[in-house]
Amino acid sequence: MEIKQSEFITSAVKPDQYPTDNRLEIAFVGRSNVGKSSLINSLTNRRKLVKVSRTPGKTRLVNFFLINNDFYFVDLPGYGYAKVSRVEKESWGAFIETYLVNRSQLKRIILLVDCRHKPTDDDKLMYNFIKHYGYDCTVVATKTDKLTKNELRKNIAMLKKELDLSGEDELLTYSSLNKQGKEELLENIESALKSV
Ligand code: GTP
Ligand code: MG
Repeated sequence: MEIKQSEFITSAVKPDQYPTDNRLEIAFVGRSNVGKSSLINSLTNRRKLVKVSRTPGKTRLVNFFLINNDFYFVDLPGYGYAKVSRVEKESWGAFIETYLVNRSQLKRIILLVDCRHKPTDDDKLMYNFIKHYGYDCTVVATKTDKLTKNELRKNIAMLKKELDLSGEDELLTYSSLNKQGKEELLENIESALKSV
C-alpha cells in the first residue's frame, strides 16, 4: 500500500464528534514521547500532519486523519506522562475506553513501545485493555535507529515476553528517522483493512 493522500479531519472530545461515515479505522496509541506523531508523519510522508504536542499528557482528543480518501488513522492521546495526577490518569482511561467500546469500524490498534526499554506497566495495561475489547493489535517497537541489530534482536524477544504477546499479534519495528520498517507496517495495515 502507498499513502498518497492524508488529511486532518477532526479532533473529537466526545463520541458525537467522531466521524459518522463508517469508514474503517486504524488507531495508534502509546505512551507520551514514544514517537507516535513522528511515525504517523513518516508513514504519510508529511512533516507536519500531526503536530508535535505542546503540552504532553494534557491532550484529551481523538484525532482523525483521512487516508487515501478511504480510511482513517486515529491518533489517541499518549499515556504515562509522569506529571499528571492519578485522577487525570483515570480520566484518560475512561476517555480511551469511550472510544474503544463498540467501535466496530476499528480494524486494528497499533501499540507503540520504545525498542530500548522494557514495556512500562501502562504499556502492559494498554495491551491487555486492547485484547480485553477483542481488537487485533500490532505492537511497533519505535526508534530502532538507536540500537545495534544485535541489541534490537534481544529486545524484540524481551518485549514479546514482557507483554506476553498473543500468537496472532505481530511485533514490528520502526524508525521514523530512517524509515526502517515502513513497508512492513504499511503491509500490516493493509491486511487489517482487508480482513473481515
Ligand atoms: P506525545 O505527542 O508527547 O505523546 O509524543 P509522541 O509519542 O507523539 O512522540 P513524538 O513523535 O513527538 O517524538 C518524541 C521525540 O522522539 C521527538 O524528539 C522525536 O524527534 C523523537 N523520535 C521519534 N521517533 C524517533 C525515531 O524513530 N528515532 C529517533 N532517534 N528519534 C525519534
Ligand atoms: Mg504526539
